Amino acid sequence: MTSPDLPAELKAALDGKLRGFSRNDAAGRAASISKTYRDGGGSGAIRSETDALAYALARMPATYAAVTASLNALVEVRPDFAPKNLLDVGAGPGTATWAAAEAFPSLRDFSLLDANEALRTLALDLARDSTRLHGIGYERGEARATLTKAGTTDLVVASYMIGEIGDAEQRALAELMWEKTRDTLLVIEPGTPAGYARIIALRERLIALGAHIAAPCPHDGKCPLQTPDWCHFTQRLQRSRAHKQVKGAELPFEDEKFAYVALTRSPLAERPSRVLAQPVVTKVEITAKLCTPNGLALTKVPRRAKADYSSARRWRWGDAVN
Ligand SMILES: C[S@@+](CC[C@H](N)C(=O)[O-])C[C@H]1O[C@@H](n2cnc3c(N)ncnc32)[C@H](O)[C@@H]1O
Repeated sequence: MTSPDLPAELKAALDGKLRGFSRNDAAGRAASISKTYRDGGGSGAIRSETDALAYALARMPATYAAVTASLNALVEVRPDFAPKNLLDVGAGPGTATWAAAEAFPSLRDFSLLDANEALRTLALDLARDSTRLHGIGYERGEARATLTKAGTTDLVVASYMIGEIGDAEQRALAELMWEKTRDTLLVIEPGTPAGYARIIALRERLIALGAHIAAPCPHDGKCPLQTPDWCHFTQRLQRSRAHKQVKGAELPFEDEKFAYVALTRSPLAERPSRVLAQPVVTKVEITAKLCTPNGLALTKVPRRAKADYSSARRWRWGDAVN
């Protein structure tokens, strides 16, 4: 399992970029970019080098943690998957590329694309001294137009990206990303009801085109959750000093909520159930909300079933369990 915290090379590159920048300026820009996101805007507010760095300092640790958690779930159900190349759609500062490089030592070739020049420049700067990533290819352009020209790739990732485009555009982009996927497509969104709704719409569309789910769902059927419930997970990550300063935060950690789906060309032989919330442990029993191959289940494991109880005590929200 890969750590959810930024790798040392990336931390060092971000610290290096931060030298010569005022942390107060970066904090001011990060607050204004966050407000744009909260008000439903996208990365269009990121225009300058300071904006891009402020975005990366404030958001990259959390989106990195969410991508890593999703990749860990994928690796757990597909331990033999060894992609050679990666396509990172809406790559921004290169977050998902860094996470995929950590998760898959097999990756040799990294292609990124994004419409935002300031984020592209930052991504190339951050990767410049990296052993694995110094040779990344990064195209600047609108996703669909750029993807149309791309070849097929073992692993395609779109992290916190599809929420920035309209519904019709999301449908077209989903199909195009799938067309360019040789093996696995991973899409990650914020863990809000709206992020989940986008994941579900993409999931249904691509299953209709022949995709199979590797994670988190243990089936290719309709999602059994009913509104107002929604499928999402959470990943804790440590905050560095710079991260705390830029966010004006006191706590040394934060919990990122995310929703994701990993779709593959071939069905998995076996799919474990998924823990959908933190299980409730009492002295009498453990109650766990599971998504199983047969639908939703509120599983109770009594203390008297000693072996089962002791393994269920280790279950965490997001785990794959049998
Ligand atoms: C919230 S950022 C996420 C960046 C990165 N994937 C991450 O996880 O940190 C969304 C990214 O999608 C890019 N984006 C949004 N719409 C796009 C489009 N139509 N074509 C290309 N890039 C787009 C933005 O420029 C931005 O870099």
